[in-house]
Amino acid sequence: MGEADHIASPLPAEAILARIRALKSATSITTIRETIAELGETLHSDGAAGDSHEVEFLLARLDQVAASRTLERAHYYLSRLERSFSQVRTNGVNDINLNRWQEYTDILTDSLWLIERRDNSGVHSADYWGNFIPQIPYQMMRRYTRRGEWVLDTFAGAGTTLIEGQRLGRHTLGIELNPAVVEQARRLVAAEPNPHHTVAEVIVADSCTLDYRALLAQYGQGSVQLVIMHPPYFDIIKFSDDPRDLSNAGSVEDFLGRLGRVVARAAEVLDTGRYLALVIGDKYADGEWIPLGFRAMEVVLGAGFTLKSIVVKNFEQTTAKRTQKELWRYRALLGGFYVFKHEYVFIFRKGHSREKRRGG
Ligand SMILES: C[S@@+](CC[C@H](N)C(=O)[O-])C[C@H]1O[C@@H](n2cnc3c(N)ncnc32)[C@H](O)[C@@H]1O
Repeated sequence: MGEADHIASPLPAEAILARIRALKSATSITTIRETIAELGETLHSDGAAGDSHEVEFLLARLDQVAASRTLERAHYYLSRLERSFSQVRTNGVNDINLNRWQEYTDILTDSLWLIERRDNSGVHSADYWGNFIPQIPYQMMRRYTRRGEWVLDTFAGAGTTLIEGQRLGRHTLGIELNPAVVEQARRLVAAEPNPHHTVAEVIVADSCTLDYRALLAQYGQGSVQLVIMHPPYFDIIKFSDDPRDLSNAGSVEDFLGRLGRVVARAAEVLDTGRYLALVIGDKYADGEWIPLGFRAMEVVLGAGFTLKSIVVKNFEQTTAKRTQKELWRYRALLGGFYVFKHEYVFIFRKGHSREKRRGG
């Protein structure tokens, strides 16, 4: 179930809800099964429950009721079904209705993401070397924000987060050092429809030194509800000649120090209890695997965050690398290492866990 479907999807006809309620007072499982069979036929024939997601969901749940072995079990499933159509229950940081959790088939909940193709719909394109696939900000915003909330991307690049935010009805602010890339992001955002009339602004600035509070104040905001960070993976891709660019850091330590400054600034404006997603990969240099991802993770943990998940995502090889695939395989066999095929999405929550607060 996509967010757009969720927004557009009407509740089933009151008549159906009334039938479910009436079923709850049935005193025999046979009556329940017969009524469900009739109801199923009606749903199949005229789509009375609204869009196809609704109908599918309802039919699956009704099947479950009909398959119950006991009347008590059937009543239990009917009460649950009634709640799923009449009440919304969320975890407070997103719009996912937990009473209908089975419907959100597009939301990933496993820590291994094997995503074969980037989403190239709308204005998204793979043109900007080093951008992330739109599915990453999509997943983060669906899981960790509600509609109308504010998202900060401290390394906005060509605006992937902003485009997704605009589609999903989240306000987004991006910070990006390279003015030419900011122009590109603005062009893309302007070309994407803005159905929810949200803000999607990217500014040219150094995210290590910018005054984040002043930036938010320009939009009448004191805080954000999600931070997304997709920094350079140290010097793997040189994004510019600007010495302030994190890809021009003098060493791993220097890179981590700068990243720490961005994290500290972002933490100041992120609401407590809300989330920060860090997307980063590792590096191999001078015969050594440098665990940039885990080093960066430690930086965020040091800033008062709790680690919620480490997602390992398959890594799309760049075109240049693909043509050299055989060469890399040879080098790996010779050098005793493995060729990179993954990167990380680290997910943190601002604030310490209950155990840590208790001193455990
Ligand atoms: C990995 S890319 C981010 C790509 C982005 N997620 C997208 O989908 O287009 C990292 C970006 O950080 C920018 N950058 C590097 N140092 C920066 C700094 N100090 N302040 C702001 N942006 C910076 C680079 O110019 C580059 O565009």
